[in-house]
Amino acid sequence: EQMPLRVTINGAAQQLNIEPRVTLLDLLREQLNLTGTKKGCDHGQCGACTVHVDGTRVNACLTLAMTTEGCKVTTIEGLADGDQLHPMQEAFIKHDGFQCGYCTPGQIMSAVACIREGHADSPDEIREYMSGNICRCGAYSNIVDAIMDVKQ
Ligand code: FES
Repeated sequence: EQMPLRVTINGAAQQLNIEPRVTLLDLLREQLNLTGTKKGCDHGQCGACTVHVDGTRVNACLTLAMTTEGCKVTTIEGLADGDQLHPMQEAFIKHDGFQCGYCTPGQIMSAVACIREGHADSPDEIREYMSGNICRCGAYSNIVDAIMDVKQ
């Protein structure tokens, strides 16, 4: 049985009807076609699905969509300002913070939260905060460089 959900996604108010068991990740990708948010493991281990709910980062695969009632959800699609990339997106390009790019949306959403939540004072602190975002290509040191660059 479907239930109503009112949620603001990337600045747009949405009135949806969803199955109560649907995760935020599946809602974004399958119902709203916001496929920038990636599904890596679907059980909280990889960080590819990281989005912000009311400014706090969450793993969308572990979040029931219903729990976002009345919240503001931001995905990688909502980070740029029109044609102007977010400074963190620019920094990932400048520092080669990716290779295959699959983990990148989640990395960038975590990276933005890392600075916003005040955990970017040193490379060690950044590595600790970012430890839930796995990168198979091993772009970690460039990702830390990108975050340090934006932090300055
Ligand atoms: Fe959510 Fe891996 S897909 S943590």
